[in-house]
Amino acid sequence: MKIAVIGAGYVGLVTGVSLAEIGHRVTCIDVDHEKVAMMTKGYSPIYEPDLEVMMKRNLHYGRLDFTTSHQKAFEGVDVIYLAVGTPQLPDGTADLQYIDQAARTIGTSLQKGCIVVTKSTVPVGTNIRIKALIEEKSMNKIKIDIVSNPEFLREGSAVYDTFHGDRIVIGAENQEAAAVLERVNQPFNIPIYHTDLNSAEMIKYASNAFLATKISFINEISAICEKVGANVDDVALGMGKDRRIGEHFLKAGIGYGGSCFPKDTNALVQLAGNNQHDFKLLQSVIEVNHSQQTKLIEKTREAVGDLQGKRVALLGLAFKPNTDDMREAASIPIAHALKEQGANIVAYDPIAIQNAKQHLPQGICYEESLINALTGAEVALILTEWKEIKTLDLSHYIKWMASPIIIDGRNCYPLNVVEKYPIHYFSIGRPTVNRRSVSVSVN
Ligand code: NAD
Ligand code: UGA
Repeated sequence: MKIAVIGAGYVGLVTGVSLAEIGHRVTCIDVDHEKVAMMTKGYSPIYEPDLEVMMKRNLHYGRLDFTTSHQKAFEGVDVIYLAVGTPQLPDGTADLQYIDQAARTIGTSLQKGCIVVTKSTVPVGTNIRIKALIEEKSMNKIKIDIVSNPEFLREGSAVYDTFHGDRIVIGAENQEAAAVLERVNQPFNIPIYHTDLNSAEMIKYASNAFLATKISFINEISAICEKVGANVDDVALGMGKDRRIGEHFLKAGIGYGGSCFPKDTNALVQLAGNNQHDFKLLQSVIEVNHSQQTKLIEKTREAVGDLQGKRVALLGLAFKPNTDDMREAASIPIAHALKEQGANIVAYDPIAIQNAKQHLPQGICYEESLINALTGAEVALILTEWKEIKTLDLSHYIKWMASPIIIDGRNCYPLNVVEKYPIHYFSIGRPTVNRRSVSVSVN
């Protein structure tokens, strides 16, 4: 099938490349000329494991191309995917300006009817509005079919998730359009769940809100664990063994970040409010998440006292491992708070430093290796559990830091391992280990 994807960001690019990989002829459109030039040469503008190799392969076989011209991409197209951003407005509602712009362009450029599929996360009722907008703008009075096909991929494992998802949700107004979308997706061999447009839109928000709730729940439990002397990692494992609860998304830490949980939870609270429902549970989830990020600052002050002039190493800056995405990363409020308290920050991330520079306060010293960041530091804060960070032998902290004090916001190290080293170690929802007075020889 001939497919056009509007918006080649984290979702659009992965979707376009994956649809090409399963045999479709795909054109990805983006308004960003620089991005399109880069992608045309086979380079991915985002860091996402396995994406660039797949991109290059499909460019080579002529199943994939990139353009800034919507009109060109729409020639003879069977299906158009909408994958533009839906960021949040100051009041928390979803900003639909990119969706509306893209819909208007479809209306004015499309020469014959086709299926328009919304991948972007949009409030309930938006698909109906998109269809109306496209048809209203169409000079030739073209009729389209609209399908809601929300995306559930995670950054950092986006390609894997696209090929191994738990379900594909197809919300449609008519069975013919739904059947075409089912055919498009059939090679992925993933169970398909059919529903109506409004329910598909709601499934996306409800899923993200539920996952965010699990995270805030375990973070609340972690606070109680600290007070009563339990270990939240063991608690989560024990809870997760109950299949009704499940083991996933029960990892306590410095709260959820990223481009979606924060904005989608806010948007759902707004959506509820606009429909005379006060979504108290989700409001608390959001509040817990905000306070979770500042807990690391409290622990840092507890460990080293006044931060004025102290050399603080930040290890990991992206909102999660295996991505260069800094949107709503916990490192942002943490770096600002440390800066305000006078700390000298040295920061390291294997991939996200370039993006981080646009989000973090001025005056941070960025290092190109973990060891350089640790050298001379009086305290190290682990913010992202990159493999390189969580597998770093603890002896390096002792060897390179001025004082081996670790504030681990991701519970990277098992406590029984930490106990073997003369380290002062704080983590989330687990007992503090303080063995700095123990003498151990480190090579
Ligand atoms: P993004 O910001 O990475 O990418 C959006 C792209 O659209 C940008 O490259 C931008 O230049 C382009 N664009 C904007 N207007 C355009 C237009 N009129 N024509 C062509 N290109 C245009 O966004 P994203 O993270 O990929 O998210 C896209 C949507 O998918 C959002 O609604 C988001 O909530 C949803 N989503 C994101 C993820 C994720 O992991 N990032 C996962 C599931 C769902
Ligand atoms: C999330 C969802 O997992 C995807 O299904 C969804 O498609 C996507 O949002 C979206 O709508 O954009 P993503 O934000 O890429 O994906 O990454 P996650 O792995 O969900 O992590 C989100 C945040 O939660 C990260 O900051 C992560 O560190 C944190 N997290 C995750 C925890 O603190 N604990 C956990 O147990 C899991």
